[in-house]
Amino acid sequence: MTADAVVSLAGGASRKAIEHHYDVGREFYRLWLDPRMVYSCALWTGDLDDDLEGAQLAKLSWHATSARAEGVSRVLDIGCGWGAMLRFLVEERGVGHVTGLTLSADQASSCELGGQGEVRLEDWRDHRPDQPYDAIISIGAFEHFARDELSKADRRAVYRHFFDRCAGWLVDGGRLSLQSIAYEDFDREQSPTSRFFNEEIFPESGLPRLGDIVDSAESSFRLVGFRSDATHYEHTLMLWQRRLESGKADATRLVGYDVYRRYLRYLRVSRAMFQRGVCTLYRLAFERRPNVTSSLGVGT
Ligand SMILES: C[S@@+](CC[C@H](N)C(=O)[O-])C[C@H]1O[C@@H](n2cnc3c(N)ncnc32)[C@H](O)[C@@H]1O
Repeated sequence: MTADAVVSLAGGASRKAIEHHYDVGREFYRLWLDPRMVYSCALWTGDLDDDLEGAQLAKLSWHATSARAEGVSRVLDIGCGWGAMLRFLVEERGVGHVTGLTLSADQASSCELGGQGEVRLEDWRDHRPDQPYDAIISIGAFEHFARDELSKADRRAVYRHFFDRCAGWLVDGGRLSLQSIAYEDFDREQSPTSRFFNEEIFPESGLPRLGDIVDSAESSFRLVGFRSDATHYEHTLMLWQRRLESGKADATRLVGYDVYRRYLRYLRVSRAMFQRGVCTLYRLAFERRPNVTSSLGVGT
């Protein structure tokens, strides 16, 4: 398959696949996420305590600082969820205008940013900004960009396309701060849970390996910051699991017992995968290399 074919036909999760996971209802997610509705691994600057809200704020802060998204004019958040980062950038970091991309209709309709931003129900592949961004942030979305069944070469072609596009949308020296789960000591033959994730939880998605990320970014970005935080995701999942379990009655009323059980299983199995070192969590800061070709106004 050529790189173009991978990107346009079978690269990553479709809107339908994304809505399967994210559009089960905002009120359901509100039961077990923090008040800002951040749906990705938190970051603890000290001990791993129970302050999920504080750790989510620390994570938003780490990425904003890593991307140098402070007091600048324009920032893009690829995979903006329910808009926590967009609001943080406008309210806490004095960013003039924010743009969020999501494939979930529920998320796109949930985020009120006044005149200081917009959320687009749009795939990053279709994004065609007409002005450059000062910074780009993408947290917990990269896992949806390439399907699990792609070959290593095809997966890397998709990721390279993503990094090239981001670099081409940034100002000279602009930064991209990225967070993604990745495979660590993963053996496909030994992993019966892959099917559960691919079919029931995150269809049409798949995890990268560190080499995939670094190799694909290499031609357009310098790597300037890196953290590997598997224990932070294990802890985040434990806190989400506890909250979901204690909200069982409300969850069952909102989405039914089967969906409640399916999400609980997903949180438990994911936690075990981080505990066993099957998966890890990377946070990476990249700086655009000089002389990258602009991709303003360019689509897929
Ligand atoms: C796990 S959520 C993370 C949300 C948010 N960044 C956070 O940390 O709370 C993944 C997000 O990626 C978005 N997403 C997945 N694939 C996408 C794509 N191809 N283009 C744009 N957004 C995408 C989903 O719609 C969702 O908003």
